[in-house]
Amino acid sequence: MSRSLKATVLISGSGSNLKALISARESGRLNIEINHVISNVANAGGLEHAEKAGIRSTVLEHGTFGRREDFDRALALLIAAGKPDLVVLAGFMRIIGPQILEPFQGRMINLHPSLLPLYRGTDTYRRALEAGDHQHGASIHFVTEELDGGPVISQVVIPVEPGDSPDSLASRLSPMEHRLLVATVELFTTHKVECRKGSVFVDGAETAAPLKLQTNGKLSA
Ligand code: GRF
Repeated sequence: MSRSLKATVLISGSGSNLKALISARESGRLNIEINHVISNVANAGGLEHAEKAGIRSTVLEHGTFGRREDFDRALALLIAAGKPDLVVLAGFMRIIGPQILEPFQGRMINLHPSLLPLYRGTDTYRRALEAGDHQHGASIHFVTEELDGGPVISQVVIPVEPGDSPDSLASRLSPMEHRLLVATVELFTTHKVECRKGSVFVDGAETAAPLKLQTNGKLSA
């Protein structure tokens, strides 16, 4: 078996996506080592998942830093100390400044609850419902300086049902996000995935469109 992919996971909340990664690693599906979990929220539920799994975790509260750049510098140093192959933003609710991004360009991915390029930013479920969309979903993209604007690696699509509320849509999407994240991190463990000139390349070939999560839990074009 090849060396496991060393991943650092950044969270702000319940960490259900972190839990999905931990479970996939424990079941043997994902050849990863989660070396560090970092939360910018002291009581984030996800910290318990890290503790139970014996994963080192650190709380770095943005509110305790006077200036954004100081938080960004501290976060960049904290991530870099673990020398991760991949940095996964799994519900990390802070904008990634250039100081954090620069050392990890092409090695930092973000899970976003919309079919990008639709609905960057927050409140995506309500915005999709208000637009009358028939489909919603989640995307995983390389992080760039543009908020939720980096090249999209993968997506999962779900139908909008009659009577859906933002909450019902979010609860139906959540388990699909978990599957999307596991499949996408798996892609990094089994293939060379690169961000080049604003496009996604897998094993040297440019993907024409985001890979889609299939019912078998795998990604394909
Ligand atoms: C996910 O829905 C993700 O799309 C959004 O934040 C949520 C994180 O959930 N950005 P969790 O903390 O992994 O449970």
